[in-house]
Amino acid sequence: MDPLIPVALIDDDKELRRATAQTLELAGFAVSAFGSAKAALAELSADFPGAVVTDIRMPEIDGLQLFDALKEMDADLPVILITGHGDIPMAVQAIQNGAYDFIAKPFAADRLVLSVRRAGEKRRLVMENRALRQAAEDAQDSLPLIGQTPAMENLRNILRHIADTDVDVLVAGETGSGKEVVAQLLHQWSHRRKGNFVALNCGALPETVIESELFGHEAGAFTGAQKRRTGRIEHASGGTLFLDEIESMPPGTQVKMLRVLEMREITPLGTNEVRPVNLRVVAAAKIDLGDPDVRGDFREDLYYRLNVVTISIPPLRERRDDIPLLFSHFADRAAARFRRDVPPLSQSVRRHLTSHSWPGNVRELSHFAERVVLGLEGGGEGVPSLRKTTASLPEKLEQYEAEIIRDALSANDGDVRKTIEALGIPRKTFYDKLQRHGIHRAGFSARK
Ligand SMILES: Nc1ncnc2c1ncn2[C@@H]1O[C@H](COP(=O)(O)OP(=O)(O)OP(=O)(O)O)[C@@H](O)[C@H]1O
Ligand SMILES: [Mg+2]
Repeated sequence: MDPLIPVALIDDDKELRRATAQTLELAGFAVSAFGSAKAALAELSADFPGAVVTDIRMPEIDGLQLFDALKEMDADLPVILITGHGDIPMAVQAIQNGAYDFIAKPFAADRLVLSVRRAGEKRRLVMENRALRQAAEDAQDSLPLIGQTPAMENLRNILRHIADTDVDVLVAGETGSGKEVVAQLLHQWSHRRKGNFVALNCGALPETVIESELFGHEAGAFTGAQKRRTGRIEHASGGTLFLDEIESMPPGTQVKMLRVLEMREITPLGTNEVRPVNLRVVAAAKIDLGDPDVRGDFREDLYYRLNVVTISIPPLRERRDDIPLLFSHFADRAAARFRRDVPPLSQSVRRHLTSHSWPGNVRELSHFAERVVLGLEGGGEGVPSLRKTTASLPEKLEQYEAEIIRDALSANDGDVRKTIEALGIPRKTFYDKLQRHGIHRAGFSARK
């Protein structure tokens, strides 16, 4: 059953108040009766979910003044005025000022009940709308950039300030630190959110492919180009172009990109046509492009062009206080996804959270949380309790080795080739060790 619609009833006449309250209660409303406007104002607030019924003629604050005060508090709160003869012109004026209804005395019970019911229904819709809007706003606010350390507060603050400007942004940070999250927030928090967020990983594609991806081509522009294709840059027009791993962009493409950034126009391959684009570019780099020794063959002029604003995301090890919060977020999410409970945290899990250096940053932490929820970490599945003090030296070495392998897998999202490379051991040795330590590679692979 629907909850009762609350009604605030204000009348200084005790007898009439009692009778009206009874009428409304019989009709199924939840009535709070007040003997004066002052008493009612002390109780009512902008989130009062029902309707107000008030007499006009009252000492001190009369019904019209009460209406004005309530309107000030919440213009959407429906107020029904009960008027004696002679007050009708005033009541009509009040309706013009936004009062919901007026009812002339003496009135039939039905007339009042009907009006209150409609007012209550209208109020319910207003409140529902407000709740929805609030929820949507909260969801915006809780977009997934978790962290309460000063570094993260600061980061969010900067994002808020620059998101809705069209300035191009370079996002710098280690792997898994949240560069793409930041790029998406810049898009979401700007007027460009109505346009597309187009991401392109510059390191993943060979030069020829990158250019046709970026700029598009006409049919027949090169061997294999059968159909005309709109490039990503044009697709991002009106929205945001996210150039991931910009440091891996081939030198030839860098030159063309520089031109795009300066001229805000493109020429699709196989055409002489120049098309204007309305872009915001967010580029991400894992390395410090500002350092000439690190930059390598990345063009300095492109770096300066992108570097109008640089946002640096600190690595997780430099904001350790965010680890528990992030861990519990990812563990809850994993628990929901895998339909499991979050297990109580074992000593070894706690220790890992506080002592590990998290080279794979937030991504590594999220995978760790998933493995904990799946019971693959922290005591189960033959994982030895780490660094048992009573263990012998060979035992400790074994444990240490297992830990190093897990970390490497984690940092590389379970990618065997990369992990083997990072560990610098032969493939066969790697698989032998996995087996010996009871490590399951599958638990480390990246999931989207
Ligand atoms: N502050 C954060 N709050 C919540 N989730 C985060 C946060 N930072 C990163 N993540 C999550 O961690 C994962 C890695 O983040 P993201 O992909 O943005 O990293 P990246 O810096 O782009 O990494 P890479 O350099 O490897 O591409 C994503 O699943 C992302 O949602
Ligand atoms: Mg990324």
